[in-house]
Amino acid sequence: MKTNPSRYTITAALPYTNGPIHIGHLAGVYVPADIYARYQRLQQRDVAFICGSDEHGVAIPMRAKKEGVSPQEIIDKYHALIKDSFEEFGISFDNYSRTSSPVHHETASNFFRKMYEEGLFTEKVTEQLYDEEAQQFLADRFVVGACPKCGYEESYGDQCERCGTSHNATDLIDPKSTITGNVPVLKETKHWFLPLDQYEGFLKEWILKDHKKDWKSNVYGQCKSWIDDGLRPRAVTRDLDWGIPVPVEGAEGKVLYVWFDAPIGYISSTKEWAEREGKDWEQYWKDEDTKLLHFIGKDNIVFHCIIFPSMLKAEGSYVLPDNVPANEFMNLEGNKISTSKNWAVWLHEYLKEFPNQQDVLRYVLTANAPESKDNDFTWSDFQARNNNELVAIFGNFINRVVVLTHKYYDGKVPAPANFAEIDVQTLKELAAYPDVIASSIERYRFREAQQQLMNVARLGNKYLADEEPWKTIKTDEERTKTVMFTALQIATALAVLSEPFLPFTSTKLKKILNIDSDAFNNLSWNTITSSSHSEGLKDILPPGHTINKADLLFSKIEDETISQQLEKLKKTKMDNAAEKETAKNIVPQKGTIQFDDFTKLDMRIGTILEAEKMPKADRLLVLKVDTGIDTRTIVSGIAESFSPEEIIGKKVTVLVNLAPRKLRGVESQGMILMTETADGKLRFVNPDGEGIENGAAIN
Ligand code: MF3
Ligand code: ZN
Repeated sequence: MKTNPSRYTITAALPYTNGPIHIGHLAGVYVPADIYARYQRLQQRDVAFICGSDEHGVAIPMRAKKEGVSPQEIIDKYHALIKDSFEEFGISFDNYSRTSSPVHHETASNFFRKMYEEGLFTEKVTEQLYDEEAQQFLADRFVVGACPKCGYEESYGDQCERCGTSHNATDLIDPKSTITGNVPVLKETKHWFLPLDQYEGFLKEWILKDHKKDWKSNVYGQCKSWIDDGLRPRAVTRDLDWGIPVPVEGAEGKVLYVWFDAPIGYISSTKEWAEREGKDWEQYWKDEDTKLLHFIGKDNIVFHCIIFPSMLKAEGSYVLPDNVPANEFMNLEGNKISTSKNWAVWLHEYLKEFPNQQDVLRYVLTANAPESKDNDFTWSDFQARNNNELVAIFGNFINRVVVLTHKYYDGKVPAPANFAEIDVQTLKELAAYPDVIASSIERYRFREAQQQLMNVARLGNKYLADEEPWKTIKTDEERTKTVMFTALQIATALAVLSEPFLPFTSTKLKKILNIDSDAFNNLSWNTITSSSHSEGLKDILPPGHTINKADLLFSKIEDETISQQLEKLKKTKMDNAAEKETAKNIVPQKGTIQFDDFTKLDMRIGTILEAEKMPKADRLLVLKVDTGIDTRTIVSGIAESFSPEEIIGKKVTVLVNLAPRKLRGVESQGMILMTETADGKLRFVNPDGEGIENGAAIN
């Protein structure tokens, strides 16, 4: 672990632009990464906080197909939406790029080419899964089957969502095409493989033996299990028409595997940023004194801890990640968040429904961060944390301090008189918090860090409650000044220390305290720690300074608002259930036919003249039907739905030119068109009105 690096390169997983982002993304990746980056900046450290959109991979054309638009339209739409959401939530990326950008295509191509020229890939013609009907090779999300490791039946071709294992599509048990549902065949194709087996030694040394005991146990554990299982070569190219073309000869129609190009996107995005800011991107990726960190969700661990480091190692000139603080998943009201089931709280919708309340969501997601196990977001917890913590503790403390300062001193910070033991003690305690919070953040324990932040507000509340300035103001003016001065120092510390967690609140609070001007530029994390005032705290907010009027930092969330959100989720559940019902009953559309095929069918309106049971056959009725052309015999499998009597005289639709066939010795000369109700009862396809003569044609 690098303790005092010259600079930090902090990456957050590049989100796929195949849908909007939701609270799961925010909780697992972007809020912790943002807290970390903001904190390091407050420590005056050199930070590059890097992200961008992941616009390749089969997820994009699949979504395009679903929405009936081009892949380009999909990535443009979601790139813009996602970028906006991040900005609105104060995720303070230094650069947000996209993998469709020219700089990325060039960077990824060069990376591949260099490895290719150095002979670091193995080139193999192998048999890959192929969908004959769709005329397409199947990999990644185009194929599902049972995971060879855990047996999960819906595992994707490249990765199992349940156990996280990454595998080759040909390893799946009972694979099926997700395009047609067909069982794929094997067909030969040439691809380039990263021989991961050759990196086993390096990975063992680097992860298992080296210093990775400071990695989170969930991350380390996954890595260890993959390495212990033995690593196999992985194809880094695909037969696909969406992605970065494989930049070597003989690779027409092939693109780089999305998980080869996407992590290189971190590098391209850094280049784009450095170019704009007049910096040297290479320092942020190649200097040994750079601390590289990847913030990701648990499904990305294998790619960031095994595959990408092997690529970086193979290429040779890059540093390796110092840590990969991956989180587990955030569930929603007890169920797994799912884009396809619309089971999520979407950021762009939250912003509309809770305007200017970004910090509340940031706060709740950090308070429940799935740092060591999956966690659950519930609306009632959201309400409780807002009302009982942000409003009642943080907001209440600030409000009391600000209101009293105006009431007693016209908004001017009073000069303290003599510090009593309790004041010194309180200021001492306050001065210890920056280090305590910092230590938690440095160890990626953001929930713990935020709890400590709230303890600063608790300290303030307790101090006011004990010292009761609203009482002493009547008896002891000097004492009151000291108390109010001390409370104002706590408020100021809160304004600074809350910035990584609650950036909007911090800005607001700095305005209220009137410390948002350049004169207060030196107010940083460490100024709170450095002490005087008999080892308490020096004046971070000096006597005589005038603060502004109170402004509400947080407001109560009513039950009504919460029930609306729960209603919304209930509706989603019902929609999903209904959709599932429909999906069960509706058979998939058959293959396309030409108009000529249709005109071959001769269908007429007819009337059933006679009906009787076929002896010894439970399902069959023998009918005499007037087709308008003639009267003929038709054997129909409808005896379980109708008695002979009830159908005599019924108008029906008849396929009259079907080749005759014998059923139980009776020749059937056509077919009555039928359909089925949801509970399996047959119904005639009837003409709907009077006046339709027998023999009328259907066309
Ligand atoms: N798009 C991937 C996902 O959402 C993450 C890509 S991270 C990167 O799971 F490293 F490839 F960039
Ligand atoms: Zn599995």
